[in-house]
Amino acid sequence: MKVFITRVISEEGRVLLEEAGIEVQEWKEKRALTQEELIYNCLKSDALLSVGTRLDADFLQACSHLKVIALHSVGFDHVDVDSATSLNIPIGNTPGVLSAATADTAFLLMLATSRKAFYLHKTIEKGEWVFFDPTANLGIELRGKTLGVFGLGKIGLEMARCCKAAFGMKLLYHNRTRNEDAEQELKAKWVPFEELLQQSDVVTVHTALTPETEGKFDWSAFELMKPSSIFINTARGAIHKEEDLLRALEEGKIWGAGLDVTNPEPMRPDHPLLQMPNVAVLPHIGSATQETRAAMSVLAARNVIAGLNGVQIPFAVNPEVYISSL
Ligand code: DGY
Repeated sequence: MKVFITRVISEEGRVLLEEAGIEVQEWKEKRALTQEELIYNCLKSDALLSVGTRLDADFLQACSHLKVIALHSVGFDHVDVDSATSLNIPIGNTPGVLSAATADTAFLLMLATSRKAFYLHKTIEKGEWVFFDPTANLGIELRGKTLGVFGLGKIGLEMARCCKAAFGMKLLYHNRTRNEDAEQELKAKWVPFEELLQQSDVVTVHTALTPETEGKFDWSAFELMKPSSIFINTARGAIHKEEDLLRALEEGKIWGAGLDVTNPEPMRPDHPLLQMPNVAVLPHIGSATQETRAAMSVLAARNVIAGLNGVQIPFAVNPEVYISSL
């Protein structure tokens, strides 16, 4: 049995695959595969372990022989899951293990934005730290402020816990369904989307990218936020409209923004957001810690091993494939 992996992954996952007797072929070039290269390699394999590669209906049709596709991510918006399901291909993801690291990144961006940290670091490099001015470089304090979580799932919950523990922040959230555990544990209050925008000092996005959430943070959303507020997105860049965000910052509709995800990715190096004092941008590193990437590689490997052994994969995003084959 052979698995093709679209990047080099952490050793822990690769070793697990090899110990299970699976031949591992990794794509070692530091560039994304073309669709043709992906299909060519998958046609010689029984399983695919995919790191961020877009898997569309054409690819799935061409590689319908795959026994399992294991994603090296919790998000699966880059995969045509419906097509995979209709072809009976189980798709696996890596839930849970990256919640803490991703929440840490949101927390880091919130703090860095509130104190203009990334921008001020650049001013030192440019030789602009010459004089102490008590009225310059002023940030915003977070103690006792209100955090609004858009998508209070596993990652949102970790972020809410950090903000409450560190700064005693009050917690509002908006989900399609209520998170009663979080309401009990953290005294988080569910509010309609518009109220979340109007009442929060920091709005942090932790929802999946779906047709309902795509472009959700547009001009009309930013207009409702406080002029002193900070917008944080560590989920998916397509959930905010980048041009609207830029304009909202330029026109003072909101105070600052921290992004680990942009639209498109990578962000172009001359993007005006990168020059703004109250903006902090990271290159999609939410889950990028040694511990978390190792854990993700292990979950993905477990999905591959189960799929190649013909048993139900432990972390399926389309478990219907098993029901329909009963
Ligand atoms: C995820 O797991 O979905 C992260 O955003 C990495 O893509």
